Amino acid sequence: MTSSPLDVAVERLAKAGRVLVITGAGVSAESGIPTFRGAGGLWEGFRAEELATPGAFAEDPERVWRWYRWRRGICTEAAPNPAHRAIAAMDEVYPGFLLATQNVDGLHPRAGSRRLVELHGNIHTGRCTECERIAPLPREVEPADAPLPRCPDCRGLVRPHIVWFGETYWPGVMEEAWAFAEHAEVALVAGTSGMVHAPIAIADHARSRGAFLVDVNPAFTEVGARADAWLEGPAGEVMPALWERVAEARA
Ligand code: OAD
Repeated sequence: MTSSPLDVAVERLAKAGRVLVITGAGVSAESGIPTFRGAGGLWEGFRAEELATPGAFAEDPERVWRWYRWRRGICTEAAPNPAHRAIAAMDEVYPGFLLATQNVDGLHPRAGSRRLVELHGNIHTGRCTECERIAPLPREVEPADAPLPRCPDCRGLVRPHIVWFGETYWPGVMEEAWAFAEHAEVALVAGTSGMVHAPIAIADHARSRGAFLVDVNPAFTEVGARADAWLEGPAGEVMPALWERVAEARA
């Protein structure tokens, strides 16, 4: 009898000591947060590429902040789903663990993930455009047309601490994920189209160093094409089912 991709993934995760998880927008889809591409991939009628750019912010910061405050409201209202919780449970169990997420919605930390790197930043964090002070935004989301946020230190204009189109990663962020990938035994990717190259490069790097690559996605993507096991289905169902079996096997 041949083993299913799920069986093989369970076996590898049951034996592993160092696990890298990479997530994308699909992991938050079941929390009601739209993904970037595909059906429903519009944020208030705008493609992310139109407003999440340094050029758009320089031209009209009010408009960009209106959009981000609206998005922040959606992220605040949303709750972590079983996929976020399964990943947080993995964080508690593996001696070596890192979650590298492309998601800026903050749902992973809210689910309890601790060893994580937010590759694209966090929508609830601001950064001064003058002195680069990074600080949490007010817990209560400001009204969309509230005055632009200013740095308490230098009065510079604050922007969302997010990697925008055309920008490079914040220093240290990619390096941390890359260094962990070097020695990961399993790299589990969930809910990403693979259209943004850098996170996929991390997964490729892990695989080239010997990691077993698992992809969780209802669609067959660039990632699934490279994976040793493609687990087809929504992350909110596949991840807890996978983790239940792994936790049982490790017990
Ligand atoms: P995308 O919108 O490109 O892809 C979402 C992926 O999630 C697709 O492959 C879907 O098939 C999959 N998906 C949908 N529902 C799912 C579910 N319930 N469970 C699992 N997978 C599901 O989002 P990302 O790959 O995250 O960057 O996009 C990467 C980056 O593109 C984002 O972080 C963003 C954007 O530019 C920045 O804003 C810097």
